Amino acid sequence: MFRLSSMSQIAKSSSPPVVCAALIVVLCLLPGCGVGPQAEFKYRDSTHKLIGDAQKAMTKTLQEGFGTPHELVAWEKFPIGYGGAKGTVSGKPAADSASSQLLTVTFEGDATNTMVGAPLLWLTGARASQTSVADTVAHFDPKTNQLKWSGMSLPAPVSGDKFVIGFGEHLKQGRAVYMKNCMHCHGVSGDGAGPTADYLSPRPRDYRLGVFKFTSTLAAEKISRDDLHRILKHGIPGTYMPSFLLLGEKETRSVIEYVRWLAVRGEFEKRTDDDLAEFSVDALEDTVKKAAATYDAAKKSGETPAKGMTLGQAMKEARESFAKFQSDELAGAIEDTATFLADAWTRADADESVILPTVSRVVDEATSRERGRLLFMSDKTKCYTCHGMLGKGDGLATEDFWKKPGSELMYSRRGLHDAWGNPLRPRNLTLGQYRGGRRPVDLFRRIYAGIKGTPMPGFGKTALKDEEIWDVVNFVMSLQFQSTQPPNTGSGQMAAAETKHSK
Ligand code: HEC
Ligand code: HEC
Repeated sequence: MFRLSSMSQIAKSSSPPVVCAALIVVLCLLPGCGVGPQAEFKYRDSTHKLIGDAQKAMTKTLQEGFGTPHELVAWEKFPIGYGGAKGTVSGKPAADSASSQLLTVTFEGDATNTMVGAPLLWLTGARASQTSVADTVAHFDPKTNQLKWSGMSLPAPVSGDKFVIGFGEHLKQGRAVYMKNCMHCHGVSGDGAGPTADYLSPRPRDYRLGVFKFTSTLAAEKISRDDLHRILKHGIPGTYMPSFLLLGEKETRSVIEYVRWLAVRGEFEKRTDDDLAEFSVDALEDTVKKAAATYDAAKKSGETPAKGMTLGQAMKEARESFAKFQSDELAGAIEDTATFLADAWTRADADESVILPTVSRVVDEATSRERGRLLFMSDKTKCYTCHGMLGKGDGLATEDFWKKPGSELMYSRRGLHDAWGNPLRPRNLTLGQYRGGRRPVDLFRRIYAGIKGTPMPGFGKTALKDEEIWDVVNFVMSLQFQSTQPPNTGSGQMAAAETKHSK
């Protein structure tokens, strides 16, 4: 079962928004896919808060671009391993001019020999634009590269037409693995809010910000497939994230693609909601409040101002300006966001994105650890303000109140929070348990790029040279073997630093 929704069909289907310039394939598989009948993708609160028309446009875009858990949509623009064997028609065997259904083909990669019955999807050529085409493989002979397919015979494919067999199989497998093994913690939508999530601390990751913590990549880059692979094999020690050593390699690879896909879907929604923020109920209430304040101020100073704005008026204006935005800008904004995400997730796997120390590990000896300790206590890094003098994760930052990012509001709890708004303790480094991997190079990367989605900043390139990072790594790794004595030489530096921080 395989349905192609070509661009033109979607564009025609009704009024905008249009998910454009993308091959979009609906992968439908209802029975036996491990998706319960009630499973559905939830929308963000910020989507629910959009005014009617904007909300409709948003949910429609998400439906068209990503589908539902039962009927996934593959938006080809994104670097997701949807799966399938891609090929090109290279000719028609002369012996069989009677049947247009026999073709000679070449495959880009490995063509599996289990293709009989698999859906065959045309990417280019006359058949590609026919929405009613539903072809399958009838026979394939890898020796002669002859492919026989079944389906309606016209329009006939010609040399050069591109096709894919079994498109989307890999992602569908990933969905099945996910629904069975991950959903109860990470949620159907990847929002980190599965049925067991509320009982766990730290909470399961909400993929929808597109932010992952324990990566080998530079601070500005996303998580790589290799990182996801490592996390699945090892789990995240000290948390409820289990290791999935028993998953087969193909299943592991497939669920990695599904996590990437959920992250793309979630971040696409978030970023597009941000673009539409002026059409939200919150923005309208703000406008009305501001208008009322202006009215009051004018009145106080003795003027007779025109009437303030009602919510109804604000709504009417927003509706009109949304109509204009929808016809002029929405499709472009959607395309920009999709391109941005496609690029970011492509770069995540590029060699240049991986942090590789420029010098090999500094020998782990007392002098190196001492240099590391001084750096840990220095104002250059301020590690101690979070991790504490003894590295126990109880620095002064854990006692302060902090502002919510991008807002003037304070968190109601003392201490640090992560990008998802959850309270977060700096790691107790004396336990020697590291969530992002315990190899020295893992710690190097943690310190070089920081921990994404958390207040721990990166120190590479700017604050610390690579040699210095190694010194800090050596010091940090020694903390688990230290007694409870302060690692102080009596220089008074720590006391000075402590005083300074507490103002
Ligand atoms: C028992 C609950 C549970 C299950 C089941 C579970 N996870 Fe997790 N997962 C977590 C928790 C908790 C975290 C957050 C740990 C942290 O923040 O340090 C997490 C984090 C993650 C991360 C984020 C890593 C990072 O660097 O930010 C990924 C990716 C992930 N899980 C994937 C999966 C996949 C894929 C599956 C299924 C194969 C799965 N998880 C199953 C609880 C779970
Ligand atoms: C602004 C506060 C802050 C500063 C400054 C800071 N950290 Fe952290 N650090 C954290 C938090 C919070 C975590 C836990 C993040 C998580 O797991 O979600 C953490 C985690 C760690 C970890 C654990 C990594 C792992 O894989 O589990 C190490 C190691 C670490 N920090 C070292 C350092 C060093 C060394 C410095 C200074 C060069 C430093 N930190 C500066 C807040 C900070």
